Amino acid sequence: MSKYDLIATTAMGLEALAAKEVRDLGYECEVENGRITFKGDETAIVRSNLWLRTADRVRIKVGEFKATSFDELFEKTKSLPWENYMPENAEFPVSGKSVKSKLFSVSDCQAIVKKAIVERIRTKYKKTGWLEENGPLFKIEVALHKDVALLTIDASGSGLHKRGYRAGQGEAPLKETLAAALVMLTNWTPDKPFVDPFCGSGTIPIEAALIGQNIAPGFNREFISEAWHWIPEKVWEDARYEAEDLANYDQPLDIAGADIDHRMVKIAEENAFEAGLGELINFKQMQVRDFTTTKEYGVIVGNPPYGERLGEKAAVQRMYAEMGKAFAPLDTWSIYIMTSDEEFETHFGKPATKKRKLFNGFIRTDYYQYWGKRPPRNK
Ligand SMILES: C[S@@+](CC[C@H](N)C(=O)[O-])C[C@H]1O[C@@H](n2cnc3c(N)ncnc32)[C@H](O)[C@@H]1O
Repeated sequence: MSKYDLIATTAMGLEALAAKEVRDLGYECEVENGRITFKGDETAIVRSNLWLRTADRVRIKVGEFKATSFDELFEKTKSLPWENYMPENAEFPVSGKSVKSKLFSVSDCQAIVKKAIVERIRTKYKKTGWLEENGPLFKIEVALHKDVALLTIDASGSGLHKRGYRAGQGEAPLKETLAAALVMLTNWTPDKPFVDPFCGSGTIPIEAALIGQNIAPGFNREFISEAWHWIPEKVWEDARYEAEDLANYDQPLDIAGADIDHRMVKIAEENAFEAGLGELINFKQMQVRDFTTTKEYGVIVGNPPYGERLGEKAAVQRMYAEMGKAFAPLDTWSIYIMTSDEEFETHFGKPATKKRKLFNGFIRTDYYQYWGKRPPRNK
């Protein structure tokens, strides 16, 4: 059953990863800028919310049409089957955005869409007067792009990066979706050691542990669409049972995080505990230059300071050089560092095997990848 047109939105640059995740869930999809589109039923809405690690949000597309006048926007919005989604007492705020479109006043577009839906709901439910809007929440978005209006309903609520484990954070915490992406872009498998030497609030090691034990990232949170009458509770229950079944809590893990700042280490520990992974990740206070190991074939993923603030650059670059020295003996390890410093390779002392452009919020960064030796076949 493919009743709904679904959209998983992603940060720029993460589309391919999110598309792979959608396909792994069993849904054919198409990739556009910042969004993956696929078709699915109620179960698909629930499962994509529970499982997508790199997507920001799941939306339901109600309609898409050309609109160059307010009349057109009103009439076409009114002709969409809103009553298929919303009960007569639905609360439905409308947000909006407009890019390169004749209808550039976002607040006017929001008001018009709101009015059109009110009329539709009134007619379909034979209501007069004010709609009460004291029922379940349906967050509607009107997004205009080059005169095409896309009308969607948010099925996630808070963004999917909110996994429910972040009790505390440092100055520059990584979004959980990006942290998961950093792990997924490596060659790490759960049987190998994994280290984040700049763990801050622990986002990367926590996401690695969730991936390592195949724990659904949304397992510990709620979604706005749980309150919708047309997604039976059983669908949520079944999807949560499926997630419980698929989780591999017996998978041993060797995951560690370190940070120069002992306060961050404490926060990371608290967050890991909140995620139910307290026993699984080893956090400690350490400077990256002191990193040594006798283990082999491990993976290091790091999100160090970038030195973007005035006066910080030289110190950060010295630290990159120390890190390069500390990591030099690790020829069987694969090392992945995300930074916006374009001279990173020079300071680290080695050209990367591969670079990948990624955005950390609005900061353009590169993900510098140093691939280690492969283990011998019989290992
Ligand atoms: C950008 S933050 C990492 C944020 C982290 N990924 C998170 O999600 O919270 C960089 C971290 O590197 C730490 N740090 C700075 N210099 C360091 C060094 N020489 N050795 C180890 N950690 C360092 C900082 O204390 C900070 O927590």
